[in-house]
Amino acid sequence: MKRKIIVGNWKMEPTTLSGARRIWTKVRKVSNQLNSTYTVICPPILYISKFISKEKVVSPLISVGAQNAYSEDHGAFTGEVSPAMLQDMGVTHIIVGHSERRDMGETDEIISKKVQAILETGIHPIVCVGERERDEHGLYLETLKNQIKNSLAKAPKKLINQLIIAYEPIWAIGAKDPMDPMIIHEMSLFIKKVISDIYGHDNAINTPILYGGSVNFRNAKEIIEKGQVDGLLVGRESVNIPGFIELLKSVDSIS
Ligand code: PGA
Repeated sequence: MKRKIIVGNWKMEPTTLSGARRIWTKVRKVSNQLNSTYTVICPPILYISKFISKEKVVSPLISVGAQNAYSEDHGAFTGEVSPAMLQDMGVTHIIVGHSERRDMGETDEIISKKVQAILETGIHPIVCVGERERDEHGLYLETLKNQIKNSLAKAPKKLINQLIIAYEPIWAIGAKDPMDPMIIHEMSLFIKKVISDIYGHDNAINTPILYGGSVNFRNAKEIIEKGQVDGLLVGRESVNIPGFIELLKSVDSIS
């Protein structure tokens, strides 16, 4: 059975290293006992080296990702961190183009340069896409299609097997409820079709599609089962230790 991918996006939480260590230690222990679930924890960047090092492979069931990276390997880019540096630390995944970063001015063009740089290091980019709102004429589908095409514009086809897409309708992030799982299923098929048009059928079938937006331990299993997605991108619930542990266990119970 294909492993489900659960990505915890801690965003800018927690504010202390001891708090971060507490979450990491508990989540790592549980993740290592699961059967068909792969966990990626994306903490604030400065905690990464406290959790992993290049020399120490964490486990085949859990790894550490980053929430962002720059599009160049090195140079005069004050305040930035490169995919090459993250790769050297042992990072396996990098979230790119999260809507909160798009709101800070990240365009599809910037995102596509980042995706290219990340792919070239061998790291998996988790490319976030999603409409801001749904209109009755279905124009949001066109918006989503363009967002995917433009965000992947510079991604070399030969490296596309590393790609992961996270579908996050912006209105469902930080909200009370997630999107209806049946509609998540429709949207994941639509995204596969767009990927297929760019990279071919086989690449589309093999590209994991995650759903993100108000996922918690109560709804995670149903979203994966009915939405037929390959995994979840989890925000708030990923820093809530009991909730995230329950979420991991419930996802792992899917047969
Ligand atoms: P949420 O965030 O789970 O708190 O809605 C999801 C995200 O922003 O990735």
